[in-house]
Amino acid sequence: MTFLVANWKMNPQTSREARHLFDMIVDLGRLKNVETIICPPFPFLSVFGSPKSIKLGGQNMFWEAQGPYTGQVSGKMLKDLGCDYVILGHSELREYAGESDEIINGKLKMALKCGLTPILCLGEREGEEMGHVLSAQLEKCLKDVAKNQIEDIILVYEPVWAISSGIVGSGKPCLPDDALSASLFVKKTLSVLYSRFLAEKIRILYGGSVDAQNAASYVKEARLQGVLVGGASLDGQEFSKIANSLNDLT
Ligand code: PGA
Repeated sequence: MTFLVANWKMNPQTSREARHLFDMIVDLGRLKNVETIICPPFPFLSVFGSPKSIKLGGQNMFWEAQGPYTGQVSGKMLKDLGCDYVILGHSELREYAGESDEIINGKLKMALKCGLTPILCLGEREGEEMGHVLSAQLEKCLKDVAKNQIEDIILVYEPVWAISSGIVGSGKPCLPDDALSASLFVKKTLSVLYSRFLAEKIRILYGGSVDAQNAASYVKEARLQGVLVGGASLDGQEFSKIANSLNDLT
């Protein structure tokens, strides 16, 4: 199964537009080889009814279960709204909300406790050394995560320098060969932290300026288990093309 995650970020601006975009892509749920996961802003999670074949995910959540935490959303709330997944550790939250690896670790453990599959984003900034950053992020974000839960996590290699401004074609995507090297590095690190067996089983996706032209190369050439799409997921036609190109591969 290939994973296709749509990260809508802080778009669109009205529930009417969100519904319209969702209606354009809801049919992708019939694709046999692709699991499509839509991660809209929190207020729109409940406007799609209970889609059966398309999965829903949150873009963030809090590390505590409930209580006096103004502005936060719990894992249980996401579950209650039909989410199976939650994106964690996105570089934009690291940048704008000062999210640290320790905070992400707390959120990840709470997500697992709530029965959500964490989609954990990792990646270096421009000028940083990929291996150095990935090993530190993996070690800290996965601290105290039990061996038997590692398989429940999806990792995304999302180099910060590859993320687009939201406009299709505006970014600088990572070459499939480089995404493959990063994923091999992730597996090597996990085999030291856990075991070779688990490292081989973990699902790794690529994110950063994915569009209909390049999506399939990350699965075919980089041998990854799917892609996470930002800007191009806001264009129903482009996103459908991505989904179909992935479906045709397997
Ligand atoms: P992008 O965003 O596809 O627009 O580069 C990816 C992401 O940041 O989730």
